[in-house]
Amino acid sequence: MTGRKKILAISGSTRQNSTNLNLIKAIKHLSADTFDITIFEGLSGIPHFNPDLDTNIPPKNIIDFRTQIKEADGILICTPEYAMGVPGTLKNAIDWAVSSAEFSHKPVALITASSQGQKAHLSLLETLKIIECDIPDETQLLISFVKTKVTDAAKISDAETLEQVKKLIDSFIKTINKKNELSQ
Ligand SMILES: Cc1cc2nc3c(=O)[nH]c(=O)nc-3n(C[C@H](O)[C@H](O)[C@H](O)COP(=O)(O)O)c2cc1C
Repeated sequence: MTGRKKILAISGSTRQNSTNLNLIKAIKHLSADTFDITIFEGLSGIPHFNPDLDTNIPPKNIIDFRTQIKEADGILICTPEYAMGVPGTLKNAIDWAVSSAEFSHKPVALITASSQGQKAHLSLLETLKIIECDIPDETQLLISFVKTKVTDAAKISDAETLEQVKKLIDSFIKTINKKNELSQ
């Protein structure tokens, strides 16, 4: 397959100077030849999930979110852990895409970048697997002590982390290409 692949990147932190957002920016720079990464900016505007609102005509923000997932070749999620779990804003957004199934068979890369992060990482993996994301081991990465590894200027300053992220990018493009080959 040729051409840059469309990636929707979601930061689980909506903080202005988020390390996870900086990590996404670093990945955007590192993968510019292969990926066209759009950073999702609507997370704070996603309403609280309520099945009563999940009708044929859902809220406009939800239509936009679902459309952006549907149109992407792959989804990159970078998230911190909050209070031993997945940030509520991120989990809330994903809950809106359960019944509509946009994540089903969608290639997903998950990076949990946090002080520790193990619990949120495992929890979110379970969620992503139950909604049928295409998420092999090679597109999953836990980066602990992230604030010592990613700079405010959106650079990965730790050599081992940089190698791990580059390997994840390679695996992500392979996952996307494999899916495209199978669907032809
Ligand atoms: C309310 C709150 C709870 C947190 N709980 C955890 C936690 O349980 N585990 C952890 O690894 N980090 C925890 N942290 C630290 C964040 O993971 C860390 O600050 C991270 O860099 C935030 O990501 P960001 O820079 O992208 O905003 C917590 C931070 C906040 C604000």
